[in-house]
Amino acid sequence: MTLHLERHGEIAVVTLDNPPVNALSRTMRAALADMADRLDGDAGIRAVVLAGAGRLFVGGADIAEFDGPPQEPHLPDLLARIEAARAPWIAAVHGMALGGGTEIALACRYRVAAPGSRFGLPEVNLGIIPGSGGTQRLPRLIGVEAAVPVVAEKRMLDATEALGSGLVDRIIDGPLVVGAVDFARDMLNHPLPPLARDRSVTDPGPAYWQAAEARIAKASKGQSAPPLALLALRHGVQHGFEAGLRQERETFLRLRAGDEAAALRYLFFAERAAPRPADLRGTPPRAVARVGVVGGGTMGVGIAAALRNAGLPVILSERDQPGLERGLTALRAVFDAAAQRGLISDEAASARMAGVRGVVGLEALADCDLVIEAVFEDLAVKQAVFKTLASLCGTDTILATNTSYIDPRQIFNGLRGPERCIGLHFFSPAQVMKLMEIIPLPETAPAVLATAFDLAANLGKVPVRAGICDGFIGNRILKHYRAEAEALLREGVPHAAIDAAMRGFGYAMGPFEMQDMAGLDIAFLHREAARLRGETVPETAGDILVRAGRKGQKTGGGWYDYPTGTRAPQPSDEVARLLAPLLGPARAMPAEQIVARLIAAMAAEGQRIIDEGIASTPQDVDLVEVHGYGFPRGKGGPMFLAARKTITGIPTRIPT
Ligand code: COA
Repeated sequence: MTLHLERHGEIAVVTLDNPPVNALSRTMRAALADMADRLDGDAGIRAVVLAGAGRLFVGGADIAEFDGPPQEPHLPDLLARIEAARAPWIAAVHGMALGGGTEIALACRYRVAAPGSRFGLPEVNLGIIPGSGGTQRLPRLIGVEAAVPVVAEKRMLDATEALGSGLVDRIIDGPLVVGAVDFARDMLNHPLPPLARDRSVTDPGPAYWQAAEARIAKASKGQSAPPLALLALRHGVQHGFEAGLRQERETFLRLRAGDEAAALRYLFFAERAAPRPADLRGTPPRAVARVGVVGGGTMGVGIAAALRNAGLPVILSERDQPGLERGLTALRAVFDAAAQRGLISDEAASARMAGVRGVVGLEALADCDLVIEAVFEDLAVKQAVFKTLASLCGTDTILATNTSYIDPRQIFNGLRGPERCIGLHFFSPAQVMKLMEIIPLPETAPAVLATAFDLAANLGKVPVRAGICDGFIGNRILKHYRAEAEALLREGVPHAAIDAAMRGFGYAMGPFEMQDMAGLDIAFLHREAARLRGETVPETAGDILVRAGRKGQKTGGGWYDYPTGTRAPQPSDEVARLLAPLLGPARAMPAEQIVARLIAAMAAEGQRIIDEGIASTPQDVDLVEVHGYGFPRGKGGPMFLAARKTITGIPTRIPT
């Protein structure tokens, strides 16, 4: 960490140099405070330009420090020090100013920016609100209506928007620091503008606040920070800067010390560690320019869409023409839906589709760098696909299977070039879900594994390496989660109460509602296959429902009834009758206890998975749950909760 000082005549240039993102760590804050004193004492200095070295201005406070108590000098005090400086400070922003980066810029007298640079206050992503005046200075500079989306809704302002709204005073084309020094010289001839803190702000009135509150509460899905960020901003607008600052700081400190912020910080670092496993450092990935996808069903279409969204040309292969037409139609529908929702332009939707070549058969895949198989989950079908592919493709073509349960060693058994074979388990819908389980075979070459991680990064996915076992990481835990839910059911806890408890915990739906949505038949067939192999698989409630034709929403009923045309679950008399012989006498159980039982079951299985070497770390298990199975982000994951013992009922020592 260094703070550079250069003099350009009467202008000082202070450059923050704290790779990788110039975070405002304690030592950086201390160095800046000393620098402010030193420059105040230098009568030859009439203005100070504050810039950042490297690829961005400042990426925020140092998040790693948030696990301990706040340490002096505190950022709000440093910002007050900069505001009180004898010579005006000018922030020169390039790349990004995030969190504390935007806040320090707001405390400067002026802000200049490089074209394309962006300003944001993404603290709510970490379960906190801006803690150094962001909620107070921003509305005073750009108005409440422009500030609220930045403070509470993760909106970023690019340089042009920042200039238009008054956040930035000049956009500098050409070298930023040179332009900032010129700007500083120009400004020496003008009276100083008021500091952001001293500017007036207009209250937009009760209707505005009501609408903003409703919008933010809805979008924050139970996370506490966004509504509180709005509240702090509003408090300052209605009670003055100092009162607002106090409320902001008090809220920031409270949230910073809480469980939700700890969970979100944990995931922040876990997500950054995931794409770069230590043992692959120094192993360059192979270039992947031509990708083939085999199978135009839901998974194949989703994978093709994810590849196209990342700009990779795709060859989509199906067995016959009608199957291909269905696949291409479904793929077009994915892009059209994205355009209709305003996520991409109509032109982009057409361009994405134009980058897909549909083919019947596998011959056209011979020259691909990577082929991902996403056909029916059946060993013989998959083996046949790869036998043909291995005879068509060179041994440098990476062959990947998207199996969710089948042992990839069996799928690739006996193939030429086993070192180029790997499992890539996407989650449905693959163009949306972030998780990608990467399953190497014992023979998989490190470069092939590195290519899989690189592909995940290009697709914007969260990669997690999984060892080979039934269900890998995610589906194995899911099985235990469901089994525990069913155990509760047998103890007499109604399935509606179990679903409601898990929704209350933060899942979008409970375990039984989830089965109804996904279909009960897949897991049923899986159990039946095991029974056929001679394994002992006890009869489950799900088996009883499927045998009665209740496969979930698609058949109008599963655990619940779905009267035609609705997806809203209704209690079912038939289910009560069918399951009566299996269930114990009805019993009420507090929601926290239900949650604790289910999370404990997940954590216990997660620990076994780690002990067996199937997952490398608790973080990997939690990333799987959060990004593949809807575990509420603000809770961190089952392993995080078990380690922190924040849920009553989770065993202090997880059984292994
Ligand atoms: N404090 C501490 N470390 C930070 C950080 C911060 N505010 N922001 C980023 N880092 C670290 C990351 O952990 C990563 O470290 P690693 O290389 O050891 O894994 C490194 O900086 C690069 O971050 P990464 O996210 O991989 O790079 P990127 O170029 O994709 O994105 C940012 C850069 C700054 C946009 C992104 O890291 C980010 O959004 N950071 C958080 C910003 C924020 O929330 N600030 C408010 C904090 S209160």
